Amino acid sequence: MNVHEDIARVLIDEDVIRFRIDEMAPEIINSLEGAPIVVVALLKGALVFTADLFRRLPVRLDVECINVASYHGGTESSGEVQFLDKKLPDVAGKNVLLVDDILDTGRTLQAVSEAMLGQGASMVKTCVLLAKDKERDGMQEADYVGFSIDDEFVVGYGLDYKGKYRNLPYVGVLDPSVI
Ligand code: IMP
Ligand code: MG
Repeated sequence: MNVHEDIARVLIDEDVIRFRIDEMAPEIINSLEGAPIVVVALLKGALVFTADLFRRLPVRLDVECINVASYHGGTESSGEVQFLDKKLPDVAGKNVLLVDDILDTGRTLQAVSEAMLGQGASMVKTCVLLAKDKERDGMQEADYVGFSIDDEFVVGYGLDYKGKYRNLPYVGVLDPSVI
């Protein structure tokens, strides 16, 4: 029953994440000035990271959420980004900070950035807690990356496997017996 028992290895500890977010926040704020700011979190994975990050951005801002799916419950990206909301947030004329948990193939950030620009956003900056170290065949990289990691499947701090393990306070690797 204890989720920690399913973790083979802790990759990034809570304290390390907190320290890195403190480091990233000032740089992110500087790049967003000039228009009303809206932080857009990609649910559900970016829930935890966004909550921690946006409390370190001491400026007037709105927060919105977008629901997309790309993994469909497995450990490999399906390659297709589905928008699950009926309506996208109103970002016209605003500077958008798009926040996701992890950059894998890059298709999610690419598709959502394009959607935000399509909605009339003045600027879109992208920020992820993690980026997998791999080729992204022409897909965009994130403007701000917390940590680069090896190309392996990770959970915790918002990231899930079949909907579980988002509540782990750290980023870790699942025990193979669980998958
Ligand atoms: P991309 O579109 O391939 O970049 O995939 C990004 C999305 O896939 C993220 O928003 C995550 O929800 C999910 N994802 C990618 N890698 C992992 C992982 O290692 N663990 C959990 N979810 C992941
Ligand atoms: Mg996800």
